[in-house]
Amino acid sequence: MHTLKEMPVEGYERVLAFRDPAAGLRGFLAIHSTALGPAVGGVRLWRYASEDEALTDVLRLSRAMTYKAALAELPCGGGKAVIIAHPELQRDPAFEAYGGVVESLGGRFFTGPDVGIIPADLAAIARATHHVACGSAAGPDHSHEETALGVWHGMRACLDFAGLRRARPHRARVAIQGVGSVGLQLARLLKREGMELLVADIDPSRARQVAEELGAEVVPPDEILTARCDVLAPCALGGVITVETARQIQARIVCGCANNILATPEAGDELARRGILYAPDYLVNAGGLIAGVEFYLLKRRDSTASLARIYDRMQQVLELAQQRGVSTARVADELAEARLRAAER
Ligand code: NAI
Repeated sequence: MHTLKEMPVEGYERVLAFRDPAAGLRGFLAIHSTALGPAVGGVRLWRYASEDEALTDVLRLSRAMTYKAALAELPCGGGKAVIIAHPELQRDPAFEAYGGVVESLGGRFFTGPDVGIIPADLAAIARATHHVACGSAAGPDHSHEETALGVWHGMRACLDFAGLRRARPHRARVAIQGVGSVGLQLARLLKREGMELLVADIDPSRARQVAEELGAEVVPPDEILTARCDVLAPCALGGVITVETARQIQARIVCGCANNILATPEAGDELARRGILYAPDYLVNAGGLIAGVEFYLLKRRDSTASLARIYDRMQQVLELAQQRGVSTARVADELAEARLRAAER
């Protein structure tokens, strides 16, 4: 049986600490906003060093989901759950108990997979609640494909804005940092579009696979961010672009799927100052969320048109940033906040 403890946190609708001692379950669930609709957010299983670290992560991630959903014009808000991984965790009962936590929220929170989650976990959650993305071919197992497609739509908008597709059709040079689930899909899409690929991964076997399959050039991981290319696509971890890195990047465009690519807002300002077009991460990596929400909550089977709208949104952000002389990251935040304010009125 799970227990719940409310933890009031300013700026968040609800934050819960949940436990099930018999299953070794310890975690946090945050509902940042339901102004636009039920909060949507995956559950992450991670070896957090402390409960504080887990709480910080769930707060940061749930807030980011609100912004991502708002900018994508989805009728949903942002939430997230994190579970602390440790040797005594009994996976099956723990995820079923987590499903009970989700169920107790009565539909205000809809969950799905995130880092560390396997299909069996989702099946366990689904035994306790139907507010979970689970068990569909169009659902979570394929979200990396939709995410990659969304990134490509955003990248197209940047290439067009920079005049690179017209100037050099089909031969833009794209450097991908991290060829995991999304990075590999993106590489395949880009190859089909005739792009020249540079790839780096800290797992050399992954980089080799892409080199063999797609004829990509492999670059050492510590050289990819500053490689000579037209587009840099960070598809590994967040925080990779600091002000210092922004000064050294040779690409004309930065557009990838990683969450929180910019280490600080000032890194975005530095990219803007140097005339480098930055695609706000949560704008272009929303493809998986868009397809998941449309499929599970809106019962739409085909998200092709919605994913393609990432192009228009990206173009709008680039134009506004240019007109106002501010970074694209700041414009994206303002657009998302305006939508939230309008819903709260
Ligand atoms: P993944 O774990 O499958 O792939 C990440 C890849 O990056 C791995 O191959 C890893 O070895 C590599 N990597 C890690 N650090 C590296 C470094 N310093 N240099 C080069 N390679 C490095 O993860 P996935 O699912 O592809 O996600 C990638 C990013 O996109 C993450 O930041 C994730 O939060 C974000 N994202 C993923 C979505 C999805 O649908 N899977 C949706 C939205 C965002």
